[in-house]
Amino acid sequence: MKRLFTLNKYFRRNKGRLSLGILFILISDFTQVFIPLVLKDSIDALHANANKDLIIRYAIIIFALAVVSGFFRYMIRQTIIVVSRKIEFDLRQDFWTHLLKLSHRYFQNTSTGDIMAHATNDIAAVRMYVGPAVMYSIDTTIKFLIVITIMLSINATLTATILLPLPILSFFVYKLSKKIHKKFTLIQEKFSDITTMAQENFSGIRIIKSYVREAFEIETFAKESSEYRKRNMDKIKIQALFMPLLFLITGTSIILLILVGGNMVINNQLTLGDIAAFLFFLGMLIWPTIAFGWVANIIQQADASLKRLQKIYDEEIEIKESKETDNSIKEIDGTIKFENVSFKYGDELPEVLSKVNIEIPKGSTLAIVGHTGVGKTSLVNLISRLFDTTSGNVLIDGKNIKLIPLDVLRKNIGMVPQETFLFSETLEKNILYGVENLDDKLLLNRVAEISQLNKDVSQFADKYNTVLGERGITLSGGQKQRTSLARALAINPKILILDDSFSAVDTKTEEEILINLKEFMKDRTSIIISHRISTVKDADNIIVLDNGVIAEQGKHNELLELGGIYYDIHYKQLLEEELQREG
Ligand SMILES: Nc1ncnc2c1ncn2[C@@H]1O[C@H](COP(=O)(O)OP(=O)(O)OP(=O)(O)O)[C@@H](O)[C@H]1O
Ligand SMILES: [Mg+2]
Repeated sequence: MKRLFTLNKYFRRNKGRLSLGILFILISDFTQVFIPLVLKDSIDALHANANKDLIIRYAIIIFALAVVSGFFRYMIRQTIIVVSRKIEFDLRQDFWTHLLKLSHRYFQNTSTGDIMAHATNDIAAVRMYVGPAVMYSIDTTIKFLIVITIMLSINATLTATILLPLPILSFFVYKLSKKIHKKFTLIQEKFSDITTMAQENFSGIRIIKSYVREAFEIETFAKESSEYRKRNMDKIKIQALFMPLLFLITGTSIILLILVGGNMVINNQLTLGDIAAFLFFLGMLIWPTIAFGWVANIIQQADASLKRLQKIYDEEIEIKESKETDNSIKEIDGTIKFENVSFKYGDELPEVLSKVNIEIPKGSTLAIVGHTGVGKTSLVNLISRLFDTTSGNVLIDGKNIKLIPLDVLRKNIGMVPQETFLFSETLEKNILYGVENLDDKLLLNRVAEISQLNKDVSQFADKYNTVLGERGITLSGGQKQRTSLARALAINPKILILDDSFSAVDTKTEEEILINLKEFMKDRTSIIISHRISTVKDADNIIVLDNGVIAEQGKHNELLELGGIYYDIHYKQLLEEELQREG
């Protein structure tokens, strides 16, 4: 439970409102407990000598007390529950901020469903603690103390007798809501399975249809769905016990009141008004009794949720600025150097790069070729620090990239990743994603022209306002790649990295783009990864990766003369082209 104290900083931010809330609880409770007392007096008065005026006066007093108490009850929600929503907002915002700082690796190893569950269920559970639980525990305790004090002052024996069953109620509520919560968690888990399944089905609909797996998917869905129903039934079975138990226990208290209290009235130890007041007080205590059990649960759940959230908070931000970061670095020039760089994805995983040395002078173009899976993408990911090297250093302008502020580094690298990702937004917003001025039409046109996207876009009715994704159109593979290229060009980067960025573009369009890019790349450092020799042949330097090391290096002609891997790839591709032409 110590963990819950970590929330104190959130409470402190809302101190004023919270204190006001507690004050309102006090006022509301005090006015409320007076009602049975007035009622008692009015019944006793009735018993003695009925007087119309007196009765009306009592009625007015009771009404006034009820109004005041009700008004402050309303105000309690306006303060404490509002605070809890504010704290929830702060919590979620802190969670999100932390999450986006976590490294690429974290998201590769954690499922989206898990993160979503934390963001929704766990934060909601904590809110239940900071809001309702805090409110009800204060309210309940105060009300209990006042009511019991008054009851004891009227008659101690009767009080003790009729309150006897109440702790049992608290205990049952505690046990039942614990069970219900467990069932509820199971239901939610199943529901998240179903959601994930539905999502995958929709995004994979083409595969499902082409492999004629509709019936299979429907059957799988039915299985999941009926499990969901079963878990709901389990919960209902327990929930159904709640009301009968409540009636049984409160009923017992009332019977005890009539039996024991009635006896006392017969013996003139109590008045009829006292019985009425006790009945009323008993009613007032039912809810606090339930709340005790309920709140105890909320606290436990919040604690468990906080533990899970804490685990994410404790997740180290792997790639971050350090003490050595030189904040005076505001821009970079673009000379890149790999010094004995080795890299692996995990301690148990094999080395992807071993002792790689490369120099890429500012403004030059380096091409990387090599068979699939040799580590080309891994190598360029090290430059923008999506991952850090396992040993060795990457330098830019002679400075270790770990010294360069991350935002300076990344803002200067235009990266066209191998797998295109576009947001469900307009084309324009996608292309200008990394740019401050989201309305720069001139820039938009320029980069779209270089990427040869203009022709395609002129066919769309909404031009650059065409919405992509789920609520919009789907671009072709090549269009997607060129949009991604335009996005990288738009940030006016010092370093441009193209990771197999033309794989879905035909060779003719690719050639045109490369000609356009020549001008753009004139004084920028570029790295082009490709499987096609035609894409890389003009580069200033070409390296061939194999088995994690640089197997060959040089210009196109030099590499051909070597007669190695590059030569092989080149001639196979020439042969393919010829075969295609003949075919
Ligand atoms: N996130 C990752 N975790 C673990 N291993 C990875 C990860 N990403 C890549 N690998 C492994 O690292 C090796 C190099 O992958 P990489 O993506 O760098 O190859 P590549 O040369 O870009 O291949 P391709 O030409 O197919 O794009 C592969 O064996 C791959 O399975
Ligand atoms: Mg790759």
